[in-house]
Amino acid sequence: MVFCILLSLFSLFISAISSSVFVSAFSLVNDFHVLVSLKQGFLSPEPALTSWNSSNPSSVCSWAGVFCSQDRVVSLDLTDLNLGGSVSAQVSRLDMLTYFSLAGNSFRGGIEIANLSSLQSLNISHNQFTGGLDWNYSSLSNLQVFDAYDNNFTALLPLGVLTLEKLKYLDLSGNYFYGKIPESYGKLEGLECLSLAGNDLRGKIPGELGNLTNLREIYLGYYSVFEGGIPKEFGKLVNLVHMDLPSCGLDGPIPGELGDLKLLETLHLNDNLLSGSIPKQLSNLTNLMNLTLSNNVLTGEILYSFIY
Ligand SMILES: *[C@@H]1O[C@H](CO)[C@@H](O)[C@H](O)[C@H]1NC(C)=O
Ligand SMILES: *[C@@H]1O[C@H](CO)[C@@H](O)[C@H](O)[C@H]1NC(C)=O
Ligand SMILES: *[C@@H]1O[C@H](CO)[C@@H](O)[C@H](O)[C@H]1NC(C)=O
Ligand SMILES: *[C@@H]1O[C@H](CO)[C@@H](O)[C@H](O)[C@H]1NC(C)=O
Ligand SMILES: *[C@@H]1O[C@H](CO)[C@@H](O)[C@H](O)[C@H]1NC(C)=O
Ligand SMILES: *[C@@H]1O[C@H](CO)[C@@H](O)[C@H](O)[C@H]1NC(C)=O
Ligand SMILES: *[C@@H]1O[C@H](CO)[C@@H](O)[C@H](O)[C@H]1NC(C)=O
Ligand SMILES: *[C@@H]1O[C@H](CO)[C@@H](O)[C@H](O)[C@H]1NC(C)=O
Repeated sequence: MVFCILLSLFSLFISAISSSVFVSAFSLVNDFHVLVSLKQGFLSPEPALTSWNSSNPSSVCSWAGVFCSQDRVVSLDLTDLNLGGSVSAQVSRLDMLTYFSLAGNSFRGGIEIANLSSLQSLNISHNQFTGGLDWNYSSLSNLQVFDAYDNNFTALLPLGVLTLEKLKYLDLSGNYFYGKIPESYGKLEGLECLSLAGNDLRGKIPGELGNLTNLREIYLGYYSVFEGGIPKEFGKLVNLVHMDLPSCGLDGPIPGELGDLKLLETLHLNDNLLSGSIPKQLSNLTNLMNLTLSNNVLTGEILYSFIY
């Protein structure tokens, strides 16, 4: 009797061990099922995804675009595979994913990503996704790179991205985002690159963006029509190398504060309604190599220091 109890305790122990092994095996099986259901939503998955053989779960780590680590799918790279169709919400069950790219396909419909707390890089650029990007970003707490360039998103800019404390790269350009740039975007302090270019934005460019002192590149130009000109607070963006604000309705003077951007190499302000004279402080921009001011209503002389 005592023996029997001991034996059953022992077998419980064994089953606890084997179930933990089973859990990780099960997880790769989980990843397999998610990928199979993703493929079912794709139009024209062949020949690019011929290796995604739904009768062969054990082969999943050798499927095209799939990379595993410790028996889990950690990276999914479906860049430029001529895929169409839609992206199943099941994708949010690939819970160990750190890198995910769907860039350069023809995916349509909405997309929602959540619950991928290991995800560091997400690239959905060059597709035809519609709707908005109002996701639960607090469940994507490790996201550093988010590229949604060149889609058909038609919505207000997503506020949820503010919870992404590690975000360095945000590209929402080439869409139909409308409304204002939220002042709160000035709190995305880790950002090194911000692109909202080629949208349908209105209102003032918030001076709060001047708080993004880690920014190296900013792109806001084309199609959007802003009011109130270039914020003088942009003079605080002391790490800026590239400022790109062409063709977006900017009026008023060029703020002299831009002369504080000592690292600036490129400044595009062409095709706006900027007026007044070119501020003499800009002659302090000793790294400036590429300046375009054409098609404005500027007066006065081109500074001697710009003539190389
Ligand atoms: C898929 O895997 C099964 C089982 O391993 C195999 O019999 C079949 O030939 C494979 N199909 C393709 C298209 O590779
Ligand atoms: C996203 O993918 C596109 C297409 O391959 C590439 O050009 C772009 O650089 C990628 N974005 C990032 C942030 O790496
Ligand atoms: C994320 O997980 C929660 C809780 O399990 C679930 O309710 C939600 O639908 C998931 N989100 C997505 C996009 O799968
Ligand atoms: C968003 O995700 C977080 C973290 O996973 C979770 O705690 C929260 O309940 C989710 N919020 C909503 C509205 O689903
Ligand atoms: C996306 O926008 C382009 C340009 O306006 C249009 O030609 C295309 O049909 C749109 N696609 C979808 C899926 O809405
Ligand atoms: C951000 O910028 C605004 C306006 O330029 C300023 O009033 C505010 O105090 C700044 N916030 C932080 C956290 O630096
Ligand atoms: C250029 O920078 C120096 C040092 O910051 C400053 O003293 C000077 O006034 C600036 N020149 C112009 C024209 O703004
Ligand atoms: C200057 O910028 C324009 C427009 O972005 C680009 O086409 C050109 O190659 C740049 N020139 C240099 C020298 O960087």
